[in-house]
Amino acid sequence: MSVYDLSVTDGLLSTTRAVRKRLDMEKPVPDSVIRECLELTLQAPTGSNKQGWRWIVVKDAGKRAALADLYRAGAGNYLKEGEKLAEASGEAQNSRVFSSADYLAERMQDVPVLVIPCIRVDHLPADPPRRTWPGLMGSIMPAVWSFQLALRARGLGSALTTLHLAYEKEAAELLGIPDGIMQCGLLPVAYTIGTEFKPAKRPPLDDVLHWNQWS
Ligand SMILES: Cc1cc2nc3c(=O)[nH]c(=O)nc-3n(C[C@H](O)[C@H](O)[C@H](O)COP(=O)(O)O)c2cc1C
Repeated sequence: MSVYDLSVTDGLLSTTRAVRKRLDMEKPVPDSVIRECLELTLQAPTGSNKQGWRWIVVKDAGKRAALADLYRAGAGNYLKEGEKLAEASGEAQNSRVFSSADYLAERMQDVPVLVIPCIRVDHLPADPPRRTWPGLMGSIMPAVWSFQLALRARGLGSALTTLHLAYEKEAAELLGIPDGIMQCGLLPVAYTIGTEFKPAKRPPLDDVLHWNQWS
């Protein structure tokens, strides 16, 4: 298989969705598949080649339930209110996103594997300058996306979520994550119910593209 087979590469890049309602909560996920996908993340780029990433894979039912509670606490009324607002304003896509996000919030504890990508921040000053964030997030999010793509290619789905981060400290205590390690999200991971996913409707490229200067 060649990386120049654009039907495969472009298909993967354009159909890797945030999967929530179609996560198969019943089908076990072998550790070997998670390891295989995480092995691929080690090929992602990092600023200064620091490779400060760490991954916490949570399978323990009690810990998944506790993380799900933190996730729902972090969500508060945001998802239910968002769903109502999107419905009232007739925004069909947003309405679907909020309904799906709310479903996931209710079922997070049932997802067989929860993965928390982390990054070392112990080298940063207390109040880092704005330019720090692209370098920091840019050194973990490409790896997260590699993980999601690798999962999709193997029939599994995931969604990058961030709502539990309002309770990052409590999650760190639960999982024994030391100071100096920053959690960057929480990914529910499971086999998908069906494997067909469509490209999302997005505004046209020209709405966001600038050649040579802003305007
Ligand atoms: C930085 C970031 C944070 C996100 N946080 C959440 C979240 O907390 N909960 C959730 O259900 N989805 C979350 N999402 C998923 C988005 O809702 C999703 O990517 C978006 O609706 C587009 O859908 P698609 O990825 O299927 O194209 C997040 C995505 C990103 C990139």
